[in-house]
Amino acid sequence: MDSESNIKWNPFSPNYSEDPYPHLKNCRDNNPVQRMSDDSYFIFDYKHVSKFLKEKKFKVHSLSEYLGEKETYIFKNVENGCPYLSKATELWPMFLNDDIHRKIRRAITKAFYSLELADLLNESLETTLGTFENKETFNLVDFCGIYINHFIKKALNIDVEEYEQIKQYSNLLAKSQELYIPKQVYQEINAEILSRKNVFKNSIFKDVILEETKGLNLDDDQLYSIMMISFMAAFETSKDNLSLGLYEILKNPELIEFILKSDTKELKTIIEEIFRFSTPLQYTIRINPYSINVGDCFIPENSKLYLCIASANRDEKIFTQPDELIPNRVVNPHLSFGAGAHQCIGATIARQEMEISLVPMLRFLKNYSVTDVKWSKQILMRTANTITVCKKS
Ligand code: HEM
Repeated sequence: MDSESNIKWNPFSPNYSEDPYPHLKNCRDNNPVQRMSDDSYFIFDYKHVSKFLKEKKFKVHSLSEYLGEKETYIFKNVENGCPYLSKATELWPMFLNDDIHRKIRRAITKAFYSLELADLLNESLETTLGTFENKETFNLVDFCGIYINHFIKKALNIDVEEYEQIKQYSNLLAKSQELYIPKQVYQEINAEILSRKNVFKNSIFKDVILEETKGLNLDDDQLYSIMMISFMAAFETSKDNLSLGLYEILKNPELIEFILKSDTKELKTIIEEIFRFSTPLQYTIRINPYSINVGDCFIPENSKLYLCIASANRDEKIFTQPDELIPNRVVNPHLSFGAGAHQCIGATIARQEMEISLVPMLRFLKNYSVTDVKWSKQILMRTANTITVCKKS
C-alpha cells in the first residue's frame, strides 16, 4: 500500500474544493491507508472507516488540548490578544471521552429533543419562502441558511439579529476544527468567540443544559462552550447538506419531477441519498489505544486515524454508481452521521428538517437555475459560500 504507491492525499490538489471526489477515489483505489508526516494515518475505504467509527475502545482526540498547546504561538505578540480557544472548545462532545462525554452528550440531546421541532421548522420554512418570494436572483446557500438559522435561533434563543453575523460566527467555529489553519484565522475565531459571549444569555435551552449537568458545577465559560457547539453542529452541517443537495437536484429536471411526485416513503429514501451524496462532515479522527494492521499497513498504538467519511460514502464496493445521486437507492448504509459512541445527536432533527422542507423548496426553486458556485477552501466541512440561482426566463 503506502510504500508501493505515490498517490498521496493532498487537499491542495487542483479543484479539490470544487470536487474532492475524484482525488479521494484515486486515494481509495491506489493507496487506501496513508501515513502522513507525523504519526497520523488517513483511511479511505468504507470497511475500515465504518469499523473504526464503531470500535468501542478507540478514543477521540482533545481539540482543547491541541489548541492549548498552540495558543502561546498563535497569540504571541498580538495586541489585546487573549488566548481563549482552548477554554472555549473544552466541552465539545466530539472531542471528549468516557464519562464526561456521556454526560454532556445526554444534556445536549435532552435539550434539543424537548423542543417542538415540527412547529419551529414549519414556521422557518414559511419565513424563508416569504423572504425570497419574487426575487429574480439570490444565493441558494443563504436560502438554506435562513431556513436552518430561523429554526435554531428560536430553539436556542440566540441574541443576534443579523443572519450574516450568525453565518460568520458559525463558519469560524467550524473552522476551528480544520486542518491547516493559518495563525491569523485562529485569531479571528478567538475574537469572534470572545465578542459573542452573551449570545445565549437568555436561552431556555441553556437552562436545560444547566439542569442536566448540575453535578458538574460548570462555570459560565464551560456552559458557553456547550451552547456554542450545540449551535454550530446544528447550523453548519444542516445548511451545507441542504444547499449541496438542492444544488445537485436543480441540475436535473427529471430528478426534480421525481421528488415532487414522491410519497412519504420515497421521500425518506431520497433524503438518505442526499445525506450520502453531500457528506457535509468529510472526515473525523480517532486514536487507537493498541496497534493495528490495516491491510499491509502496521499502525502503532496512539496514532491519529483520519477516517475519511466522504471517501467511504463513495466506495464502489458498497454503493453502486457512487458518484450519482440515485433517488431510489435501496442499499444505503452511509456514514454521514458517523457511527458508534459519537454518532450524530441531531440525525433525527436533520432528517426532519429535510422532510419538512425538500418538496416545498423544490416547488419554489424549480423555476430557477444555478448560474455560479463558489466553494469554501475548507477540508473538514464541505461548504459552498455562494450558489447563485436565477429565475428562468
Ligand atoms: C445533515 C446534518 C448533519 C450532519 C451531516 C452531521 C454529522 C455529524 C457527524 C458525522 C458526527 C460525528 C462526528 C464524529 O464521530 O467525530 C456528528 C456529531 C454531532 N452532531 Fe451532527 N450532523 C448533522 C446535524 C446535526 C444537528 C441538527 C445537530 C443538533 C442537534 C447535531 C449535533 C451533533 C453533536 C452535538 C455531535 C457530537 C456527538 C458526540 O460527539 O457525541 N448535528 N454530526
